[in-house]
Amino acid sequence: MARLRSSFAVLALLFTQTTYSIQVTFTDDQSVIGAAKTIADDLISYYVGNSTAAVAAVLPYPPYFWWETGAMWGVMLDYWYATGDDTYNAQASVSIQAQVGEHQDFMPADQAFDMGNDDQAFWALTALTAAETNFQNPPEGDPSWLGLAQAVYNEQIGRWDNSSCGGGIHWQVNPSGGFHLKNTISNGALMQLAARLARYTQDDQYAQWANKLWDWMWAVKLIDNENWSVYDNTDANLNCTSVDRAQWTYNAGTLLIASATMYNYTNGDPTWKNRITHLLSTLIFDFFPNGIMTELCEEPGKCDNDELTFKAYLSRWMAMTTQMAPFTAATITPVLLSSATAAMEQCSGTYFPDNCGLRWSQNATWDGSNGPGQQMAALEVLLSTIIKKQAAPLTNSTGGTSASDPNAGFNGSAIDPGSIVTPATHGDKVGAWFLTVVFIMASVAGCYFLWSPSFELRGNLYNGAAGGSRGLFSSMNFGSSNKIEKSTIHMGGLMSSS
Ligand SMILES: *[C@@H]1O[C@H](CO)[C@@H](O)[C@H](O)[C@H]1NC(C)=O
Ligand SMILES: *[C@@H]1O[C@H](CO)[C@@H](O)[C@H](O)[C@H]1NC(C)=O
Ligand SMILES: *[C@@H]1O[C@H](CO)[C@@H](O)[C@H](O)[C@H]1NC(C)=O
Ligand SMILES: *[C@@H]1O[C@H](CO)[C@@H](O)[C@H](O)[C@H]1NC(C)=O
Ligand SMILES: *[C@@H]1O[C@H](CO)[C@@H](O)[C@H](O)[C@H]1NC(C)=O
Ligand SMILES: *[C@@H]1O[C@H](CO)[C@@H](O)[C@H](O)[C@H]1NC(C)=O
Ligand SMILES: *[C@@H]1O[C@H](CO)[C@@H](O)[C@H](O)[C@H]1NC(C)=O
Ligand SMILES: *[C@@H]1O[C@H](CO)[C@@H](O)[C@H](O)[C@H]1NC(C)=O
Repeated sequence: MARLRSSFAVLALLFTQTTYSIQVTFTDDQSVIGAAKTIADDLISYYVGNSTAAVAAVLPYPPYFWWETGAMWGVMLDYWYATGDDTYNAQASVSIQAQVGEHQDFMPADQAFDMGNDDQAFWALTALTAAETNFQNPPEGDPSWLGLAQAVYNEQIGRWDNSSCGGGIHWQVNPSGGFHLKNTISNGALMQLAARLARYTQDDQYAQWANKLWDWMWAVKLIDNENWSVYDNTDANLNCTSVDRAQWTYNAGTLLIASATMYNYTNGDPTWKNRITHLLSTLIFDFFPNGIMTELCEEPGKCDNDELTFKAYLSRWMAMTTQMAPFTAATITPVLLSSATAAMEQCSGTYFPDNCGLRWSQNATWDGSNGPGQQMAALEVLLSTIIKKQAAPLTNSTGGTSASDPNAGFNGSAIDPGSIVTPATHGDKVGAWFLTVVFIMASVAGCYFLWSPSFELRGNLYNGAAGGSRGLFSSMNFGSSNKIEKSTIHMGGLMSSS
C-alpha cells in the first residue's frame, strides 16, 4: 500500500508543478487545529489494521517495523489531547491493547523473537502518555495504562547488566544480533520512563533508577563529557571503551525530557537544571541549522523508515520540556515555531495534496517523500506550537485515574546480571546456524546495496529497530554496526514470507 503510494507520488511529481503547502495562522488556535486534522487524517490512512489481532493491528510490515506503530499512537494521543478530536481514539485503544501479549508487557509472541528494549519502551511511553492524559481506561480486568508502563520498567531494570561496562541495558532483549551493543535510545527511553513514572506516582524508586541511568550514560560517554553532544551506542564486547558517535535527534531528545522531568520531580534541582541547559544548547546547535529542525540523514536523503520518524519525538519532547522546566520556553518556543512554519511549507506533496516531506529546510519544494514518519514529524512540530495552551501531563494526585500496578511485568522477561551467556540448547544451535547463513547472505547483500545505485531505495528494507547502532549508513563502520546483524533477522522474515 505504502509503496504503491510512493510510486504514484513520484509519477505525480513529474506531471505537475503545482505546490500546495498547508496554510496555517500560528496565532489562531483553530487554524493550527484544522491543519493538524489534515495531517492526522493522512497519517492514519497508512494504518489499515483496526483489528484485535496483534499482527494485524499495526502499520503494514514491511516496510514499517512494529515499534513505529507504538510511537504513532503516542503521536495520535498527543493529537487528541491537544485538539479534542477523538475520531481515532477507539482505534488507538484497540491497537495498543492488541500488543500487550500474554504477560501484559508489550512483548507479544509474534514480536518477541527480535524485541529491542527500545521497541518495547516506545509502546510503554505511549501507554504512559495515555495515563498522563486520562485517555479512556481499558475495559475492567485488562491491564491499566500505568500498569503496562510499570511492567516494562520492571522488566527493563531487571535487564541491567553490570557484568560489562559497569552497567547499562543492552539494545536487544535476547542474546542475539545486536545484543552486544548498549545504546542510548534503550537506556535513554528507560530513563525517560523512570522519570515520568517518578513524577506520576511520586514513588522515589523510579527516580533513583533515572539517576542511575544518567550516571551510567555519562560515565561511558554516550553523552560527550566536554560538549554535551549525545551519541548513539557503545559496544559491550569492548567493555564500552569506544563510542559510535552517530547523532540522532531522538537520543538527545529523550535525555532532555528525562532530565526536565527529573528537574520537575525534584522541584528544581540545580544539577538537573545545569544538565538541561547544556543538552538544550548543544542539541539546538547540532539539529537546528537556520532554526529549522534537521535530522542529519536528510541532507544525503538517506533516512530510513525508522529515522524518518525521529523529529516527531524531538518536537514532542522539547515541547514537554517547556512544561516540565518552564525556564526553557524562551529558548525552545522560537525554534519550534520556526521549524513548524518550515514544516507546513514542506507539506506540499503532490499525490495527496497535503502530505508532508521531511526536509523542512526546502521551503515549499516537496522533497518527494511521503509516509507515516513524515506525517508524525509534521504533526508533532505543529502541535508543539500550541502546547502552552495545554495542561501539564497529569499525575495520580492531579487527576490521573490509571490504576497503579507496581509489581507488573513478567519475572522471566528479566535477565539477571551476569547470567546472559547461556549454554546453547539444540534449538538455539539450529537457530544460530540459520542466522549464520542468513548473516553471510545479508553481509554480501549489504555490501552490494551499499555500493549499488539502488542502495537508497533498498535501504528501507535494511533498517534496524527503534534504535540501536544507526552507524552503518553514517559511518560505513561494519565492525561496530548492528545494521547488518539486525537485518539478518528481518531478512529472515522477508525471505520466509516471500
Ligand atoms: C475500528 O475499531 C473501533 C473500535 O473497535 C471501531 O469503533 C471503529 O468503528 C473501527 N473502524 C473501522 C473503520 O472499522
Ligand atoms: C552487579 O549488581 C549486582 C546487583 O545489584 C551486585 O550484587 C554486584 O555486586 C554488581 N557487580 C558488579 C561487578 O558491580
Ligand atoms: C569494564 O568497565 C568498567 C566500567 O568502566 C570497569 O569498572 C571494569 O573494570 C572494566 N572491566 C574490564 C575487564 O576492563
Ligand atoms: C500515587 O501512587 C503512589 C504509588 O503507587 C501511591 O503511593 C500514592 O498513594 C498514590 N497517590 C494517590 C493520590 O493516589
Ligand atoms: C513543574 O511543572 C509544573 C507544570 O508545568 C510547573 O507549573 C512548575 O513550575 C514546574 N516546576 C519547576 C520547578 O519548574
Ligand atoms: C562535540 O565533539 C565531537 C568530537 O569530539 C564532535 O563530533 C561534535 O560535533 C561536538 N559537538 C558540538 C556541539 O560541538
Ligand atoms: C527558502 O526560503 C528562504 C527565505 O525565502 C531562502 O532564503 C532559502 O534560500 C530558501 N531555501 C531553499 C532551499 O530554496
Ligand atoms: C523472580 O523470581 C525469582 C524466583 O521466584 C525470585 O527469586 C526473584 O526475586 C524474582 N525477581 C524479580 C525481579 O521479581
